[in-house]
Amino acid sequence: MSSLERFIRVGAHSHIRGLGLDEKGNAKFEGDGLVGQLKAREAAGLVVKLIREGKMAGRAILLAGPPGTGKTALAIAVARELGEDVPFVQLSGSQIYSAEVSKTEVLLRALRKAIGVRFREYRRVFEGEVVKFEPHFAPHPYNPYQRIVKEAKLTLRTKKERVTLTVGPSVAQELIARGVEEGMVIIIDKEGGHVSVLGISKEASVPRYDVGKIPEVDVPDGPVEKDREFIYITTLDELDELFHKRYSGGGFFSLLFGGREERKEIDPETRMQVDKFVKEAIEEGRAEIIPGVLFIDEIHMLDIESFSFLNRALESELAPIVIMASNRGFARIRGTDIVSPHGMPLDLLDRVLIIPTEPYKADEIKEILKIRAKEERINLSAEALELLTKHGEAVSLRYAIQLMAPAWERAKLNGRDTVTPEDVEAVRERFASIEESVKHLKEWEERFMK
Ligand SMILES: Nc1ncnc2c1ncn2[C@@H]1O[C@H](COP(=O)(O)OP(=O)(O)OP(=O)(O)O)[C@@H](O)[C@H]1O
Ligand SMILES: [Mg+2]
Repeated sequence: MSSLERFIRVGAHSHIRGLGLDEKGNAKFEGDGLVGQLKAREAAGLVVKLIREGKMAGRAILLAGPPGTGKTALAIAVARELGEDVPFVQLSGSQIYSAEVSKTEVLLRALRKAIGVRFREYRRVFEGEVVKFEPHFAPHPYNPYQRIVKEAKLTLRTKKERVTLTVGPSVAQELIARGVEEGMVIIIDKEGGHVSVLGISKEASVPRYDVGKIPEVDVPDGPVEKDREFIYITTLDELDELFHKRYSGGGFFSLLFGGREERKEIDPETRMQVDKFVKEAIEEGRAEIIPGVLFIDEIHMLDIESFSFLNRALESELAPIVIMASNRGFARIRGTDIVSPHGMPLDLLDRVLIIPTEPYKADEIKEILKIRAKEERINLSAEALELLTKHGEAVSLRYAIQLMAPAWERAKLNGRDTVTPEDVEAVRERFASIEESVKHLKEWEERFMK
């Protein structure tokens, strides 16, 4: 693995691969990178099941528990369990306060990103390995020194047959533009004339490159001309953007430069058109909705307007599952004087399923630290691990995790390849926990008050 890949991979939750449940949905003490928090993991497993069965759309889940108890980790695990095709969108409460667009636009965009649409379409195509490709050129009508493609002869073969086609100038041009050569397996859309290259035929004797290579594929079976099923997976948000580009006025130049400009707000009409387009496709059996997940971390950062917007959005026909996380007990709802559980309005709280997360015990902290050390490629001595576990219990899990990297640097500076208790103590004294830092500043302030 290259150092760059390594760099990208190690995030705070990169050790998490799933919820670590058995076939019956029971949590193992350790599985898929998760440790302990058994009940919450089992609850999350049931949520995953409901999402997969499409029974959760428009519902909301709240992960509630003290800081560092794995709420964000659980949400990530849910995403990993759901797999690639189910959209999972992550938003932090404070992200809605953007200078560019309104709060509700940020929320709406995130909600619509979390709704996937699977389009299924049958198209008449020619598919096969290119046996022969002969473009015919003619002089340009205005510039005799330049030649243009007039047409081309193309022979395609499958395991069953071989067919020679004559194609017109636009398809011939596209074949050239895509770099089509003998030995490639291609598809041409009969109606639209679009060409796509599937790869290089396993049976063709053409040079293969280690760099810049295209995938090897089998020679297709059956006839060259056939109906083929195409599946596109997109999201409502992507469709909004497409429709927005196509229908926004501004003439030719705005189209040319449209791609570079950051889009601002999308008007409600465009979104209505998209919804209509999708609903029609569903009714005709050409599309299906894949309700995904919108995860809103630090939910107490939302204000009253955003909460009521979210509440309404959950009622709409095309709504994703919303998972929220909060580490607040009672807090003031932003934009009001009302103090409410988790800083959330009661009408929204009323409709959520709450999954509580508990503080970790020593043996769990120890296992999590071990996993993180492995993930970050840090060697801890047994005693150093014991000591970090103690700090994890006394201060917080996250603090103990954060001490590991500087302790490792210190060990290396001292020519050691293992973190010792001495390294841990040294960084423990040099990096303050939140409580210590607050206490320190308070004392400092009091000195000036006198
Ligand atoms: N059960 C667990 N198993 C393995 N790793 C965990 C577990 N719980 C938490 N972690 C890891 O510990 C760290 C802190 O957890 P996390 O960020 O999920 O806490 P949180 O509950 O979201 O806290 P906050 O309220 O501050 O947002 C992360 O690196 C996370 O991946
Ligand atoms: Mg969190």
